[in-house]
Amino acid sequence: MLQVLKLAAVGAPTLLSLGSAVGADNLPSPDFTQGDAERGQQVYQRVGGCVTCHGWAGDGQSGRSPVAHAAAANLRETRLDPQGLYDTIRCGIPGTQMPYHDGAAYRDDRCFGMVMSDFAPGQQPVRGKTFRERQMVDLIAYLQKYVIGHGRPTLDECVQYFGKSADKACAYLKDN
Ligand code: HEC
Repeated sequence: MLQVLKLAAVGAPTLLSLGSAVGADNLPSPDFTQGDAERGQQVYQRVGGCVTCHGWAGDGQSGRSPVAHAAAANLRETRLDPQGLYDTIRCGIPGTQMPYHDGAAYRDDRCFGMVMSDFAPGQQPVRGKTFRERQMVDLIAYLQKYVIGHGRPTLDECVQYFGKSADKACAYLKDN
């Protein structure tokens, strides 16, 4: 399983750079400065389900499902800019577990100029939860404000994330 994922991951950057060369999307980009980070947290947690794989802290470690976390990227260390995040969220990373969240992706050629039937079996992009462009912009604002470039997760961040259930959820950080 892990072996397969690693192999798939090696192929992904090639596909992505191909994508940006032909225009990963021919669609106009939204205005990323209009995002609402607090609303974006809801998208991260509930609407988009990013937390399932990337963990509450976005580090690919914290959270509940060890299997998924072994493979998920550490978003705290990503070098992607808003446009790169947007493309990745919409189109996913084919050949990995990173799902796409644009409901029309791979039905038309908006992602990397490809449709589902262009992919070899096992390399096909995985469908994630779909949500609106506005929510993607909020989600990106959330990642920029609270996740990207933030180093190791802290107790304060954990409390901010979990609110009322922080006592239990963040107990493991108090021992550090
Ligand atoms: C089913 C598990 C899963 C879910 C759900 C998921 N991801 Fe991912 N994500 C991954 C994996 C695995 C990778 C690493 C793929 C690879 O090997 O390159 C990844 C990679 C990424 C990257 C690329 C990081 C980089 O620097 O290259 C971004 C950005 C990202 N995810 C954001 C999100 C967001 C935002 C959500 C929620 C809308 C989300 N992911 C939901 C599994 C998931």
